[in-house]
Amino acid sequence: MATRIVVFAGSIRTGAFSGKLAALAAKELAAAGAEAELLSLADYPLPIYNGDEEAADGVPAPAKALRDRLAGAHGVFVVTPEYNAGIPPLLKNAIDWVSRVKGGEGDPFKGPVWAIGCSSPGAMGGYRASIMLRQTLALGLGALVLGDQASVGGAGQAFDDTGALKDERTAGFLRGVLGKLVAEAGRRAG
Ligand SMILES: Cc1cc2nc3c(=O)[nH]c(=O)nc-3n(C[C@H](O)[C@H](O)[C@H](O)COP(=O)(O)O)c2cc1C
Repeated sequence: MATRIVVFAGSIRTGAFSGKLAALAAKELAAAGAEAELLSLADYPLPIYNGDEEAADGVPAPAKALRDRLAGAHGVFVVTPEYNAGIPPLLKNAIDWVSRVKGGEGDPFKGPVWAIGCSSPGAMGGYRASIMLRQTLALGLGALVLGDQASVGGAGQAFDDTGALKDERTAGFLRGVLGKLVAEAGRRAG
């Protein structure tokens, strides 16, 4: 079976650096032989989580659709921007809503193997946000998250016109993480 890997960024901003890293990762994953599915959280619009609304109306359809996309994957590569040393509300809210979906085939967090990317204009490349994302996925939701991750600092200048990373060392880290993700996800694909 083809190894399906879902890729997405925690930003829907036009020209988002995390979106660039996600797009590059999807390209690299496809080159490595995986079936890469790049999705945008813009296609899964969700209100800020409110328990009263959930009790009254249930979980919104976009959260169920996102849950099914993730649960159907063998691997997930998620790229987080950094907001005040943490992950942005768009990403946290999407994860929180998905975690509230009951039933359905598979498990969006424990089914696929997860790997993390992060980016920011600063020198630390969103590293602090990656820690929070790892905590939420692994400690909060029981996901297997690869120890290796890809971090892109100075993100405003990091990509060339083709979307590739200019710095070969950073590009090598990304390829390394993605290679491990393909291998681990491939085991799940059977
Ligand atoms: C509310 C807010 C908080 C931010 N906090 C940080 C931060 O803690 N560290 C950092 O490196 N960049 C921070 N930034 C800058 C973002 O990294 C920058 O806006 C980045 O372009 C957002 O990611 P994106 O390009 O993927 O949309 C912050 C931006 C916003 C809007």
